[in-house]
Amino acid sequence: MPPSSSTRDLRLGVNIDHVATVRNARGSAYPDPVRAALLAEEAGADGITAHLREDRRHISDRDIERLVAELTLPLNFEMAATEEMQRIALRHRPHAVCIVPERREERTTEGGLEVAREENRLAHFIAPLREAGCRVSIFIAADPRQIEAAHRIGAAVVELHTGAYCDHHAAGEFAARDAELARLGEMAAFAHGLGLEVHAGHGLTYDTVAPVAAFPQVRELNIGHFLIGEAIFRGLGPAIAEMRRIMDAARAA
Ligand code: PXP
Repeated sequence: MPPSSSTRDLRLGVNIDHVATVRNARGSAYPDPVRAALLAEEAGADGITAHLREDRRHISDRDIERLVAELTLPLNFEMAATEEMQRIALRHRPHAVCIVPERREERTTEGGLEVAREENRLAHFIAPLREAGCRVSIFIAADPRQIEAAHRIGAAVVELHTGAYCDHHAAGEFAARDAELARLGEMAAFAHGLGLEVHAGHGLTYDTVAPVAAFPQVRELNIGHFLIGEAIFRGLGPAIAEMRRIMDAARAA
C-alpha cells in the first residue's frame, strides 16, 4: 500500500494556479482548479498549493473558499506579506501559509523573500498566523542569511527557490546549474540543522526534479507550471503520477 501523505518521507504539493490561468484567459468557468485539486489527490499529491495574488491574475477568492471547503488534502496558501492576505488567511486558517515576495509586473515569483532586511515586520506579520495554527513557510533563496532570519522570526518551514537551478538547466549552463544545485543541497542541510522543515520548488520538471528530491533534508516539493503544461499531453493524473514516480525513485536511490 502506498504511504499516506502524512507519513511520506517526501511530499508532493501540486500547485494549481495555472489551471486558473487558462480559465481566466477566456473569463469562463472552466477549467476548474478545484476539480484539478481533487484529481491531483487521486493521482498521488500530498497537498495542494494555491497562490492568491494581489491582482487575482489566476486563483480567485472564491477558489480559495472552495478549496478550503472541498479539499481533504492539506492546503498550502501562498501569499504576499500584506494585511489583506493576512486577513484572508486568518479567516480560512489553511494548513500552511507560504509567504512569498510579489511584484505586479513580474510574470512569476522571481526571487525569494528578503527576510533579513524585514525581520521585525515579518516576525510581527507571521505571529497571528502561527497563533491561528498555520504552519508558516518562507520562500527564500538558498542563502544562509535568509535562512537564519527565517529561523529567528519563528517560521516552521523554509521553501528553497529552485528557479535559478532550473533556469540554468534549461539554458544548458551546466556548470552554473551544478553550482546552484550544490548550494541548494548545502542550504537544505543548514536549514535542517537549525530545526527548520525544508521544502523546495519553482520551475521543477521531470528533468530537474530528481537531484532535488534526493536531498534527504527536503520534505516537500511544490510543483505547478510544468505539471499543468504536461497535462495537455498526458492528462493531469498521469502527469502527476509520473512526477511522483521520479521523486520516489530519486529518494530511494
Ligand atoms: N513554490 C512557490 C513558493 C511558488 O511561488 C511557486 C510558483 O507559484 C511554486 C512553488 C511552483 O512553481 P512552478 O509553478 O514553477 O512549478
